[in-house]
This record gives sequence, structure tokens and C-alpha cells, in this order.
Amino acid sequence: MKLALTTKMTPASASAAAEAARCLAGGGLVAFPTETVYGLGADATNAQAVARLYEAKGRPSFNPLIAHVVDLAAAKAVAQFDVRSLRLAEAFWPGPLTLVLPKASGCAVSDLATAGLDTIAVRIPAHPAARDILRAFGKPVVAPSANISGHVSPTTAAHVLADLDGRIDLIVDGGPVSVGVESTIVGCFEKPMLLRPGGIPRADIENVIGERLAQLPEVETDDALPLAPGMLASHYAPRTPVRLNAEGVEAGEVLLAFGPRATGDLKASVMNLSQQGDLVEAAANLFSYLRTLDSKGARGIAVMPIPDDGLGEAINDRLRRAAVPQS
Ligand code: TXA
Ligand code: MG
Repeated sequence: MKLALTTKMTPASASAAAEAARCLAGGGLVAFPTETVYGLGADATNAQAVARLYEAKGRPSFNPLIAHVVDLAAAKAVAQFDVRSLRLAEAFWPGPLTLVLPKASGCAVSDLATAGLDTIAVRIPAHPAARDILRAFGKPVVAPSANISGHVSPTTAAHVLADLDGRIDLIVDGGPVSVGVESTIVGCFEKPMLLRPGGIPRADIENVIGERLAQLPEVETDDALPLAPGMLASHYAPRTPVRLNAEGVEAGEVLLAFGPRATGDLKASVMNLSQQGDLVEAAANLFSYLRTLDSKGARGIAVMPIPDDGLGEAINDRLRRAAVPQS
């Protein structure tokens, strides 16, 4: 199929959901809002559409995708649940949690989307536009964040257009997202494992299952790869170098601040993730502020320290990845 030259942007509405479903059914690529970030959707059961998706994002094809479904019945058609995973599903779905589970027998999701693994990542998103599209389409939709692989994830339709215009078929515009960081990914293995911190704090999950979540090994070993194939060290990367835990601004830098004591050189551009020190507000602003600061042509982006509790774990994870020097 030919890639569209210009991407069409459609406001979220009932007719937009029908248009998106038609486009997906024809093997097309549709960007749509979820509560975490904008996703780039393809028919999960259509290997050719999935291949186009990898190509449009420039994504290494060994990195598997999340299957988005509308309800638990649809999730059970692709994945096997046990008592613990059902408890998590009931507590947090629809919402920003992704579960990695054994594939169900007869799972219709293409092997390309799961990169040949015998597990599958599943999520029921909460955003009404995403739910309308999934309901109208009636099949699982794989959706990575709607950005060129390695770039900052999109939290508005304009961000999607900036990265992917001409490479995808349609964007459903639902305004800015509410959560602002990707879903928390939990591997439901013998020992439950936090594969990616995200929109649901670790402590909330541990409370529901009454168990600690194991940590992914810090160093990327070959053993860790099949567990979390997507956790490439450099990711979410702006072009401008990022300096973490900055106590002040150096010459030529702009500042990503947090909390009431943001100071520094008044000549520098400052964007404060949350004046009140609210981590939920900070998560919602993170990617959009990184993009804006990245566009200033500064020598560097200095980032003030951010506490590691609640959504802070996900924010600091993304910032650490953004700070890895790019090759
Ligand atoms: O919030 C989100 O999760 C967003 C929205 C659009 O739903 N999606 C998203 O997808 O962040 P993506 O593709 O950027 O990240 C999916 C992550 C990757 O790190 C991938 O390696 C991991 O999920 N993953 C997918 N399937 C897996 C599996 N079977 N085992 C372990 N990790 C898996
Ligand atoms: Mg991504």
C-alpha cells in the first residue's frame, strides 16, 4: 500500500471512530489519543499492516507491540489470565497499565507484532476516543507511541504530525492527553516484574497484588532482552543534550524546573513541570516541555532533581533515557 502524502487530521467524534475503523480495516495506520500518549494504531491481526507500522516509525522489528483491546473479554481472547493478573485487570483497567501475559491459544495477533515471543503485552485504554475506535473496529489494535522510534513521545496531535506527517494515513485529534507518560508495564511471570515504570505508580500495583514487583536488571544483558525488549538505553531523546539533577543553569542552557524553588539565570528559558511540586501535573507536562525546550537551539537542557516516588519513578526513567548521549 502507498503511504499517504499528507496525513489527515480528524477531530474525535463518532464519525471519526468509524473513519478510523475503516482505515484500520484497510490495513491503514491511524494515530489516536490514549490517556497516556498518542498511539499509532494498526490492525494487530494483519501482518502487512504491522510491517508498515514498524516501517513508518523506523522501529527495530524485534521490539514487540502492545495489543489494545476494548474489554476484558477481548483481552482473554489474546492472553491467558491467572488470579493475579485478573486482580490487576479489575483494579486498573481501563487505564494506564499494560500486562505481559502468556499468549492465548488461537490468539489472532500477528507474530510480527509480538516479535515471535510466546508472551503478549495487552492493555485496555481509558481514553474515550481510543475506546470508541476499538469498539468500532472490533479487533485488537497494536499501538506504539506515535513518534519516530527514539524520539520524544507525543502528547498532542500536533506532535504526531511533526514526526509522522506523510508516513501515516489518519490522526484522530482528541486534544492533549491527561497522563503524559506511557503505561506501566508489568510482566506477569512467576515473580511479577516491573518492566517499565509508567502512569500507574509501582506502590499502587504492589498494594493490589500484595507482593513486591521485581526489578528489571539495570544492565542490559542478553537474558533481560526477551523480558523487556523495548527498554533500549537511549530513548525518548531530544536532540539537545540533557543534564540531570542540575542545581543551577550553566551558560547557554535552558532549564526544565520542578517545584517552587526553581531559580537560576533569569535570561535562560525556564519551563516548570509543576510549580506546586505535583508529580501528576509534572508527568502530564513532561514530553511537551521537553519538545519545546529542545526547539530553543540551546547548548543543553538542565533538569532539576525530581523525587522518585509515585509518578516520579516513570518521569525519572524517561529523563535518564533522554540524557543518554546519542550515537
Ligand atoms: O502508554 C502506552 O503504553 C502507549 C500507548 C500508545 O498505549 N504505548 C506504548 O507502546 O508505549 P510502545 O510500543 O512505545 O512500548 C511498548 C513496550 C516496549 O518497550 C516493548 O518492548 C514492550 O512494551 N513489550 C511489548 N510486548 C512485550 C512482551 N511480550 N514482553 C515484554 N515487553 C513487551
Ligand atoms: Mg514509545
